Amino acid sequence: MSRPDNSTEHVHLVNHPLVQHKLTLMRRKDASTSSFRTLLNEVSMLMAYEVTHDMPMQDVEIETPLETMTAKMIDGKKLVFVSILRAGTGILDGMLTVVPGARVGHIGLYRDPKTLQAVEYYFKMPKDTAERDVIVVDPMLATGNSAVAAIDRVKALKPKSIKFVCLLTCPEGIATLRKMHPDVEIYTAAIDRQLNDHGYILPGLGDAGDRIFGTQ
Ligand code: URA
Repeated sequence: MSRPDNSTEHVHLVNHPLVQHKLTLMRRKDASTSSFRTLLNEVSMLMAYEVTHDMPMQDVEIETPLETMTAKMIDGKKLVFVSILRAGTGILDGMLTVVPGARVGHIGLYRDPKTLQAVEYYFKMPKDTAERDVIVVDPMLATGNSAVAAIDRVKALKPKSIKFVCLLTCPEGIATLRKMHPDVEIYTAAIDRQLNDHGYILPGLGDAGDRIFGTQ
């Protein structure tokens, strides 16, 4: 897969045709719950491929059926994926398919419909998070408030690094996250035009949680 084309220093836009094609299918309002979920799963595997491109490797000695060789393996303790509930679950599943050894943390946040601020109701992380690299996942980086709140909590555990993976974002979401956490790299499949007054991304794909779980 090619590296993202339109990356700025901290925002990696994953322009791969497979990702873009699947995202377009997901945006369509007539996509069924089951096809939306399947496509999100597939896109998440491809996003996992991108976000792990710089994971440290080590040389190990192995025996093939024919001879001994030195081969590459991922070095040290693996990743922690942190899913922002509930929509993060949709990305988490696909990423775990390709990185099955990762640990998983969960942060439950809901968006106060009046203030659009993130309110926490759940937080559970692996004990050894300080020894690991963290990837926080949420399909939509919209106002940025949930992402900032989640990363505030994760940072307090002092992980080795933090990246953020979403499917869609917008200039407002990027600006908020960059202002509060300039060290966190963002991986996204699209940067849409803007937020509406209710904090939804335009043109977007609607409410990601509702579309994943069929709750609308
Ligand atoms: N969350 C969603 O699910 N969709 C948006 O457009 C913004 C936030």
